[in-house]
Amino acid sequence: MPPEAFRPLGSRRCLLYGNGTLVDTVRDELRQATARYGGDVRHGGPADTLADRGGDRGESHDYDRGYDVVLALRDSGPLPAEAMAVDATLRRDGATLGPEGYALARENGVTTVLADAPAGLLYGMFHLVRLGDAAFDAPRPVERHRPAMDLRMLNHWDNVDVHPVMGQVERGYAGGSIFWRDGAARADWDRVRAYARLLASIGVNALSVNNVNVHATEARLLTDRLGDVAAIADHLRPYGIRVHLSVSFAAPITLGGLPTADPLDERVQAWWAETTRRVYEAIPDFGGYVVKADSEGQPGPFAYGRSHADGANLLADALAPYGGVVHWRAFVYNHRQDWRDRSTDRARAAYDHFAPLDGQFRDNTILQVKYGPMDFQPREPISPVIAAMPRTRLAVELQITQEYTGQQRHVCYLGPLWSEVLGFGLWGPDGPTVADVAAGTGHGGSPSVPAETARATVRGGGLVGVSNVGDDFFWTYHPLAQANLYAFGRLAWAPRLDPVTILDEWIDLTFPPSTTRDPQTVRQTLHAVMDDSWRTYERYTAPLGVGFMVSPGTHYGPDVDGYEYSPWGTYHFADRDGVGVDRTRATGTGYTGQYPSPWAEIYESLERCPDELLLFFHHVPYSHKLHSGSTVIQHIYDTHFAGVDEVVEMRRRWHELAGLIDPAVDARVRELLDEQLRCAVEWRDQINTYFFRKSGVPDAHGRRIY
Ligand code: GCU
Repeated sequence: MPPEAFRPLGSRRCLLYGNGTLVDTVRDELRQATARYGGDVRHGGPADTLADRGGDRGESHDYDRGYDVVLALRDSGPLPAEAMAVDATLRRDGATLGPEGYALARENGVTTVLADAPAGLLYGMFHLVRLGDAAFDAPRPVERHRPAMDLRMLNHWDNVDVHPVMGQVERGYAGGSIFWRDGAARADWDRVRAYARLLASIGVNALSVNNVNVHATEARLLTDRLGDVAAIADHLRPYGIRVHLSVSFAAPITLGGLPTADPLDERVQAWWAETTRRVYEAIPDFGGYVVKADSEGQPGPFAYGRSHADGANLLADALAPYGGVVHWRAFVYNHRQDWRDRSTDRARAAYDHFAPLDGQFRDNTILQVKYGPMDFQPREPISPVIAAMPRTRLAVELQITQEYTGQQRHVCYLGPLWSEVLGFGLWGPDGPTVADVAAGTGHGGSPSVPAETARATVRGGGLVGVSNVGDDFFWTYHPLAQANLYAFGRLAWAPRLDPVTILDEWIDLTFPPSTTRDPQTVRQTLHAVMDDSWRTYERYTAPLGVGFMVSPGTHYGPDVDGYEYSPWGTYHFADRDGVGVDRTRATGTGYTGQYPSPWAEIYESLERCPDELLLFFHHVPYSHKLHSGSTVIQHIYDTHFAGVDEVVEMRRRWHELAGLIDPAVDARVRELLDEQLRCAVEWRDQINTYFFRKSGVPDAHGRRIY
């Protein structure tokens, strides 16, 4: 957010009503903006709340002559006439704004933001920033804004110690951590505050500060290093963000000196209760725990023959007295699989483990489910777990950090992917969506719970994103990857927003029209480069939903057979005749049976399965005809040539921006587009060559394959 984004608001005369930490934040924001751009801010309300009337810096205005903007808590009246009118409309409609919502209107030349609680005022102010001049140019009937999801959370996979393999930030591509460095808290509070502000501007309200893989030093954040967490919480609090902590299930042993971490052992329960009490003593608004258990080597309840409901409820009970929640991750699968064993299917694992436990979790347990059944591939079907647990609070996890989508070296705008995910009708195109389940506003039922009962009882767990931010100058390394963070926040607030509209907002905030001599070209070029970049990325990487084919370990760049004979459960089964994974009930792993109707039938059917997921669900000959009319092998060739051509075009378009934007941004993006092209060419040639050699089928257009 360059200061320039605040010009429209900052040049206005603002009246602010209300008190509290978050209202103070709004006041400080308005002060800074008005000091810079010539407006002013007055803290209104009854005389005894005028704590800082003298502190305003915009001296050039006579307050009595009027005001352009009113931001007010509804109960802090008497309010100016325009605000009273908005309040009356809300009362008449019986509309509630909730703890984070706000109402916005413009009448008689005054723009009004009303909220019931301070957080709403903060989000309303950022809405004005987003609107820019449009917030002040024409009358606006009363609009109500409330977040779709109550929890809009970022997970940082940041380590305190530099991990010998994963580094300071696991799967982090934007430099070091903004919280930790070389075993210690960085205490770079300016940066943390700036980050909190950035997150508040997109509506994020929760953040976990350490990696889900909890190593020895990080485990101690829960106990003797809690002070570091409390210090971070102090800097996030003014922006309405609650701090959460990833904890180790084995903590009672490793930190508490107990012989066991068995969730049914009373000593273990007492240890968690006491430890959690201390956490709340230090951080009264602490959000809760994030747990990766029995997953990729992390300890969990299986060691004691207990279920994941036993494990999650142990922590939920410790947190309940303080209103905290436990985010229990569903990413549980066998990562030591024998590749020869065709009966095990990693895609099935989360459902097999968790669906039978529906109804057994506490109310403050949130089951955190990755959007797909595998691991954040650029294309996966939706995880069937999301439809299967109507009596469980469920959060959907997205990956903002671009582990499998170009590692912040490739332009890959993920808004369209997430929008498809959130808008996916789990019980068919017209029924409740993924967003509905995450928000707790709709459910289609499960084999054991009829739809009507499910709809009445479902409670949302929200949206979680793995952060893509680090201490890099541009925060996300690729300057255009900032748009992904932005889109995450906006979609968590309003899942139905159009991703291209979101990009419009981001472009205007990040490259304010007043800072360039040709805003139209800047806007058009950024759209040309970014709008379809996720699909471009998909075209030059693994085909038709088969996934992976990445270099083992780093997950960057192509290695078609890199995981084919590995224990990780991510195979494509290509041979001379065909490719893909048979996950049907008829002849395969039976995974299609985890979906409700109609998807169970659609995915099962070779004829009805959507092209883009064909190889996820079926093993087919190279000559198989897609709905598009092409054969699988020709589709592979065509998309890989097209994908590279698109990157060439992206680069050409970007070069047209020379002189129109910040030279440092331009230079970084140019350098990265060169790398993206190099890497895309490598993908194209390795994939095409691999499948040509396997199949012996030449390209119908005679293009160069090696
Ligand atoms: C991926 C990623 C790991 C991460 C894991 C998780 O597998 O490669 O680094 O720990 O997801 O989500 O827990």
